[in-house]
Amino acid sequence: MRNGLEDVIAAETQLSDVDGEAGRLIIRGVSLDRLVADCSYERVTALLLDGLMERNFDEALLRDWLAQARTKVFDHLKAADAALLALPVDALRALLARLPDGDDFDTALSLLAAPAVFLPAILRLQRGQTPIAPDASLPQAADILRMLTGQLPTQEQTAALDTYLVTISDHGLNASTFASRVIASTQAGLTSSVLAALSALKGPLHGGAPGPVLDMLDAVGTPDNAGRWLAEALDRGERLMGFGHRIYRVRDPRADALKGALKPLIASGQVDSARGALAEAVETAALAILRARKPNRPLDVNVEFYTALLLEALGFPRQAFTGVFAIGRTVGWLAHAREQALDGRLIRPRSVYIGPLPAAA
Ligand code: COA
Repeated sequence: MRNGLEDVIAAETQLSDVDGEAGRLIIRGVSLDRLVADCSYERVTALLLDGLMERNFDEALLRDWLAQARTKVFDHLKAADAALLALPVDALRALLARLPDGDDFDTALSLLAAPAVFLPAILRLQRGQTPIAPDASLPQAADILRMLTGQLPTQEQTAALDTYLVTISDHGLNASTFASRVIASTQAGLTSSVLAALSALKGPLHGGAPGPVLDMLDAVGTPDNAGRWLAEALDRGERLMGFGHRIYRVRDPRADALKGALKPLIASGQVDSARGALAEAVETAALAILRARKPNRPLDVNVEFYTALLLEALGFPRQAFTGVFAIGRTVGWLAHAREQALDGRLIRPRSVYIGPLPAAA
């Protein structure tokens, strides 16, 4: 038996491929470095959903529909209540659960728009501020930041969030995507798939890691303290957040895409360069100590390390990082759910019983 289903093939997909040996991610035939160079969130969304919904569309149409969907889902915030004071990802899940379930394109559009509208609103409500309505003239990334702060973001901020959303749009059969496919295989609706996926995402071994990455940076404090602090954390049996991956045996290509997106923010003084220097020192020290302590297991930086720095630089509080991940990953969950539903077969693996047998009569 493969513990954790490691290396087990559980689906065929045309959506994305993660090559863990080469450190390469392909989304619908395009490599990640190409995608982040010239692709918007709306374009990667159109690419991922292409041929999987009952309607055809291109990037421009999708951009308009998505903007309209943001305006529509904003109405759901009228029913905001005490549940929204929970951890942002739990509040997001509570609000998403109120959307109608279905397998049509309108449901998919609502699900793409809803996390983008709900998360900034949740964060504002938690700070005692009024939610800001969407602006249908803006692309999704710019509108998210405007709904968060009330101000039009800078070009560098919009580009950084857009790159983040493109970078994390899909990533093979990770735990949350698998959850989405399992639900879709039962012919439950897309909202059910997204709720299951979000629940899987929030765990610290999956999408819950970037907040703890910042906790680690804060605890390290200064670059010269990195080696000592990391060694002590490993001595306590802790894992270093932002390092290691089930598939990648080399550097996660998404880490560099996000590191690249941070650079213009640092160069234009929109991020404290000391934070960047601390992160570099922790990365270097962590790679060295992991190599020394786990010589048989190649452990490198993963997507969450630079996600943490990027989302912090864009003004998201660390408890909200998993929710921002969900904004970007929803399209992957939806595309996989549709692909699975079109395949039509129920996912139903077996287990090996290792408990006691009934006593003989
Ligand atoms: N820090 C320290 N040691 C780590 C580690 C990390 N971040 N990630 C893996 N290891 C070690 C394990 O302790 C284990 O060592 P052992 O064989 O001596 O017991 C070995 O590497 C294999 O770990 P395993 O749990 O089998 O790997 P996995 O494929 O199940 O785990 C992750 C993948 C992502 C869950 C794991 O690397 C991790 O916990 N990383 C930190 C959390 C994180 O960044 N998550 C975001 C992922 S994108």
